This record gives sequence, C-alpha cells and structure tokens, in this order.
Amino acid sequence: MIRTAVIPVAGLGTRFLPATKAIPKEMIPIIDKPTIQYIVEEALDSGIEHIIFITGRNKSAIANHFDYHPELESHLKETNKMDELKGVRELVSRARFSFVRQNEPKGLGHAVLCARHLIGKDESFAVMLGDDVIDAEVPALRQMMDVHEEKQVPVLALQKVSHQDVSKYGVVAGEYISESLLKVSGLVEKPKPADAPSDLAIIGRYILSYKVFRFIEETNADGTGEIQLTNALSQYHDIYGLLFMGKRYDAGNKLDYLRATVELALKREEFREPFTAYLKNLLK
Ligand code: UTP
Repeated sequence: MIRTAVIPVAGLGTRFLPATKAIPKEMIPIIDKPTIQYIVEEALDSGIEHIIFITGRNKSAIANHFDYHPELESHLKETNKMDELKGVRELVSRARFSFVRQNEPKGLGHAVLCARHLIGKDESFAVMLGDDVIDAEVPALRQMMDVHEEKQVPVLALQKVSHQDVSKYGVVAGEYISESLLKVSGLVEKPKPADAPSDLAIIGRYILSYKVFRFIEETNADGTGEIQLTNALSQYHDIYGLLFMGKRYDAGNKLDYLRATVELALKREEFREPFTAYLKNLLK
C-alpha cells in the first residue's frame, strides 16, 4: 500500500517570473486555490496519509498553508463563515505533513533523495510534482496505485505529447502490455526530437521503491549540475508506464496555466453560466 507522497517544491520557478520572485510558484492560485492544493487534494483523494514536501528558501508560505491558523479559524467561527472554516481546516486535518529542506536546487533527483530518512526500507512511495495539475474523474495517482497494487512494480505517469515537444520531457521506450500500460525498456531525459524513442512523456507522478535512493546516489549530475530523476530511473529493470485518464496542465508554463484557469473555472457550478456567457460575448 502506498501511504506517503513526496512533493518537491524547492525549484526557483524562473518560468513564472516576476510572480515567483517573492512567492513560491506552487502558491500561485488557479481560481481560488493555490496550485499545490490541487496536487495535495489528488494525493489525499488517492489514499495518501503522509505528505513530505521538499522545500527551499522562500517557501514558508507552503508550510503555513498546510498548517492550522487559529486566529483565522476563530474569526470565521465568530462571523459564522462555516463553509470557509471547513475549507481551511479540513484539508490540514486529512494528512500528516512533513517538511525537508533541499539546501541547494540540485535537480529533481536530488530533491527526492532528501526524503530518504522519512521512507521505510520496504516502502514504496509516490512522487508528485507541484507543477502538474491533473483533472481526472479517478485521481491520476489512484489510477497508478491500482497498477502498483496489482503488479508490485514502480509506475510512471505517461502522456503522449507532440513530437516537437519531446525535448521538454523525460521520454520512454517500451512495449504495450495493454491499451494503456507499457513495460518500460528505456528512459531518456529531454531528447532531441530526432533521437526520441517515442512521443510518450513522463508526467509529474511516479510510484517508486526505496531502491531509487541508491540509483539517485549513483547518478552523475548533468551538464547543468542537476541530478535528473529520469536518469536514475533507467536503472530499474522492471518499471511500468501508465497512460492515465485525465487532462494535465503544466501550471509552471504561463499559457497552460491560463488554460487551467479557464477550463477549471468552467467546471465550477458557480461560474459555469456567467463565465460561459462572458467568454462567448468576449469572442463574438
Ligand atoms: P521544474 O524545473 O519544473 O521547476 O522542476 P523549477 O526549477 O521550479 O521551474 P523553472 O523551470 O525554473 O520555471 C519540477 C519540480 O521539481 C521541483 C520544482 O519545485 C518543481 O516542482 N524541484 C526542481 C526541486 O524541488 N528541486 C530542484 O532542485 C529542482
């Protein structure tokens, strides 16, 4: 059973400057919730009980967001704002939250390694990236946990991307064992389109075993000085990729962030009608 999710949030968020100069990019809201809350809710709805954030400097807003706020809570109670009270309190009570500092942003692989002392030696755990918001009927992580429970192997989330976009992702080679499940035979980080083994990109959800920490330690930093998780994962012999059902937004990319805001707003009961009318009028 997967009970723990590691969520690295120590990156500098340079693609979202100037917003991210003083605010963690994970705290930028989509409508009224910080991006990171969508990811945490996916984890909780999948059955995760312990969330380990890998944080860095300037990220204290994330720790505050996932903690109780007694003054705010008593104010909401006194002013009878019970829905708002439930919204801020319930989220925090649904899991345990731990925070580990990554002293230098030395890459995603290095960020994951920082969680080692909080993971059991026989434990498999999830890694979820704070950038990838996935809108799905069954939470994407739950879909991956179902595969893991059946096969007892590490699982990567995959999505088909356009051929020219492969160079932005880790890309896999492999063989389909069903319509949506692939046995992975190779992984390449950010290949040139001409060298890519497929158009199947790794999206920010992983189920990994404790062994990955040794693999990360054995992985050399790349040309930019970062230890890439994809390179460490190449050492797994038995690893699967799941083409999950759902729509993914890269909230660290400004255009995709705008799409997420519009599409998720249109799914909200309170906004659907007036916002649709507004958009229709705007585009007339
Ligand atoms: P990204 O490369 O998308 O995040 O890493 P970034 O570095 O914050 O963003 P840009 O590219 O400069 O805009 C994917 C995830 O891994 C985390 C990031 O916080 C992000 O959620 N990460 C990355 C770390 O925690 N530590 C690192 O050293 C690198």
